[in-house]
Amino acid sequence: MEQRTLGTTGRRVSVVGLGTWQIGGDWGPMEESEAFAVLDAAAEAGITFFDTADVYGDGRSEQLIGRWRAAHPEWEGTVATKMIRRAPEPSLLHATEENFRAWTDRSRRNLGVETLDLVQLHCPTDDVFTADAVYSALDTLVAEGAIAAYGVSVETCEQALWAMDRPGVASVQIILNAFRQKPLERVLPAAQAAGVGIIARVPLASGLLSGRYTEETVFSPDDHRSFNRHGEAFDVGETFSGVDYTTGVQAAREFSALAAEHGLEPAAAAIAWVAQQPGVSSVIPGARNADQVRSNAAAGKVAELPASFVDSVRELYTRRVKAQVHHRW
Ligand SMILES: NC(=O)c1ccc[n+]([C@@H]2O[C@H](COP(=O)([O-])OP(=O)(O)OC[C@H]3O[C@@H](n4cnc5c(N)ncnc54)[C@H](OP(=O)(O)O)[C@@H]3O)[C@@H](O)[C@H]2O)c1
Repeated sequence: MEQRTLGTTGRRVSVVGLGTWQIGGDWGPMEESEAFAVLDAAAEAGITFFDTADVYGDGRSEQLIGRWRAAHPEWEGTVATKMIRRAPEPSLLHATEENFRAWTDRSRRNLGVETLDLVQLHCPTDDVFTADAVYSALDTLVAEGAIAAYGVSVETCEQALWAMDRPGVASVQIILNAFRQKPLERVLPAAQAAGVGIIARVPLASGLLSGRYTEETVFSPDDHRSFNRHGEAFDVGETFSGVDYTTGVQAAREFSALAAEHGLEPAAAAIAWVAQQPGVSSVIPGARNADQVRSNAAAGKVAELPASFVDSVRELYTRRVKAQVHHRW
């Protein structure tokens, strides 16, 4: 598995990492044994980067990773977590040094480490990105050794650009996939220029780009693909990338056909498309089981995608999806 430098953290991480929201909650039930099977498969496939958050299952994702890591000291990987969404709202009012310390202390306990590898502000509101005091507080936590580095997870390209202006920001996590192409315009070039790492999330548009869903597919009631289709619980852009489900299924069918023309499985083609964008440090598909992890890891080894495929994916985005998402995020 190719390893890339994660921005100014200096850490080397696998080009395909693992998103672990599924391990915590919001994606229907997952037993502890299933979660460990996912983490085992990731390590076996050479994945050295896990992304979690303090709110995934209210800490369950972090705790499972912590327990798994204790049992696998041979895994020399990086775990990125996130904070601020334990607050009543992810706004500047709550982005205080005191809260940051309390949240990171809880994550350190959950993950069983002295120093967190990377903490990302978890999609806060605009006011947080532009406040000097926020970055000073994060610098203090670095100086104290509670966290080794910090970054941001963002909803919009504008937020990514604000954050990259700050010298302490090591990484930016953003949605990037065949149905969310705006970050290619300014965010990825700016990250490369600033040496900031890009963690590309939701590469499968919440699974749509695997081509497995139909208009009739029913998701579990406790899966955000049921309960957040219209942004009822959090930003609608996190569910199917903000594309309405019917449009998404139809566009995914076209994407699958394009992948097949090039002899690729759709999920592998979708992940390879992200991984091969200049500036991406790691792409972090979430996975429900070990088989998905293995095939996603293999996507990191897909040969350079032909220009004809890349052009067709751009055309598909422009024709079917762009009008729904481009102006919003
Ligand atoms: N605000 C934030 O910072 C934020 C928000 C969202 C996500 N994230 C992070 O980004 C990670 C990835 O995003 P995501 O999990 O939301 O979306 P995603 O990676 O686009 O989609 C994950 C889903 O795709 C399906 N899938 C995965 N591998 C597959 C394969 N090989 N073949 C077929 N289907 C496959 C699974 O669906 P089924 O469940 O139907 O099998 C899985 O649950 C998360 O786990 C989390 O770590 C962060």
